Amino acid sequence: MRRTEIVKILRNPTGYSDHAVTVCGWVRTLRSSGKIAFLALHDGSAFGSLQVVLAQDELPDFAVAAALNVGAAVCVTGTVIPTPGAAQSAELRATSLAVEGASDETYPLQKKRHTLEYLRTLPHLRGRTNTLQAVFRVRAAASGALHQFFRDAGFFYVHTPIIATGDAEGAGEQFAVTAGEGSGDFFGVPAYLTVSGQLEGEAMAMALGKIYTFGPTFRAEDSHTARHAAEFWMLEPEMAFADLEDDMDLAEAMLKSVIKEVLAVCPDELAFLQQFYDKALTARLQSVVDAPFARISYTEAIDLLTPHNARFAYPVEWGHDLQTEHERFLTEEIYHAPVFVTDYPADIKAFYMRRNDDGRTVAAVDCLVPGVGEIIGGSQREERLDRLESVMRTRGMNPADYARYLDLRRWGGCPHCGFGLGFERLVMYLTGIANIRDVLPYPRTAGSAV
Ligand code: 4AD
Repeated sequence: MRRTEIVKILRNPTGYSDHAVTVCGWVRTLRSSGKIAFLALHDGSAFGSLQVVLAQDELPDFAVAAALNVGAAVCVTGTVIPTPGAAQSAELRATSLAVEGASDETYPLQKKRHTLEYLRTLPHLRGRTNTLQAVFRVRAAASGALHQFFRDAGFFYVHTPIIATGDAEGAGEQFAVTAGEGSGDFFGVPAYLTVSGQLEGEAMAMALGKIYTFGPTFRAEDSHTARHAAEFWMLEPEMAFADLEDDMDLAEAMLKSVIKEVLAVCPDELAFLQQFYDKALTARLQSVVDAPFARISYTEAIDLLTPHNARFAYPVEWGHDLQTEHERFLTEEIYHAPVFVTDYPADIKAFYMRRNDDGRTVAAVDCLVPGVGEIIGGSQREERLDRLESVMRTRGMNPADYARYLDLRRWGGCPHCGFGLGFERLVMYLTGIANIRDVLPYPRTAGSAV
């Protein structure tokens, strides 16, 4: 099909001036007044639409065109007219129009603006709205920017299994995998959807040095919040011969690099999201690129938060995990910037984190950002075989179930670290969208799989 993508015309209107082109896309809006009609055509190549002018005396199919409905797919041939100073850099004066796929008045996206809640009931159609369009374009840009960052930094992208045979977090939040009702044990061992690629990622890091995984992750936690999904994407780097400081340096460089790239390639999307969802969006993203992240220990965080306990639904207390309200207070009210919180009490963190010399904390790190709270969780890993085995036993885990993980400490173990970035949490942060259901194309959350 010989067609010109709308983005090419909008970016170079003078280059296309007076050229005859064919553009294909979906009708976003249509206004007609007698002998002239205006159609906003969107083809996905640009965030914006192209205005198509339909004039009765220039277009033989005028009657067909004027009777189109929002949502229809059409191909329009016409002449490009640059429109300097107007909202769009060019318009198209139509000379012929072919309807590829009609639409009618039952099309559910007739109005200009719908609530996000309503749009969630239409996962197959909502990508055609400006809001979801902006989100999914930012999502794709962020995903590409992450791959680029790690490739440039010499990391290998490895693919860890989605069907797991152990519990990587030891938190018992797994979905079981079976081959169907009554089929017995397909794999010969119990199998689950992965909660993290970390344990396999550690093995790959002991071979390749620096790796990352990036894939779907599943958690059967019954959390009914705006930031938890049962299926989400997690990016997990792992580095050999590296400690917690290296881990934070990597996370900070990664976030800055992704934000810089999204600011550069998605200015129209961000401007739209800023106008309708988060007035401070681009200023906040820019400030993250420019300033160093704060770094404090969990114990320091408790000391900073304790004087404000009256404001919290759950007062902070050393030994208890930080709640979202505490995380947000630290990053939004105290630092006004992303914050790394390190060295959490061992009892509230996963078994694989390296025990600190104080005997009661581990080399863990969470990265908190304004508006979202935690987007990254990571740690230096316990590389000492005897320590790891003893933690497993005190937690009621059977070291034999983790024999391969322990082998990594038996043969050529070394200090190493990594983290997990919740990709949807990052997209929420980049877009100012407050609910995880609106940044996943087909959200699966406790009680709902649309
Ligand atoms: O802190 P988490 O549980 O860490 C891990 O899974 C480690 N194995 C990562 C590692 O060190 N390689 O999860 C990491 C991040 C969280 O900070 C959060 O952003 C995201 O994953 N996350 C979720 N995102 C959406 N829905 C959920 N249910 C999530 N659970 C975790």
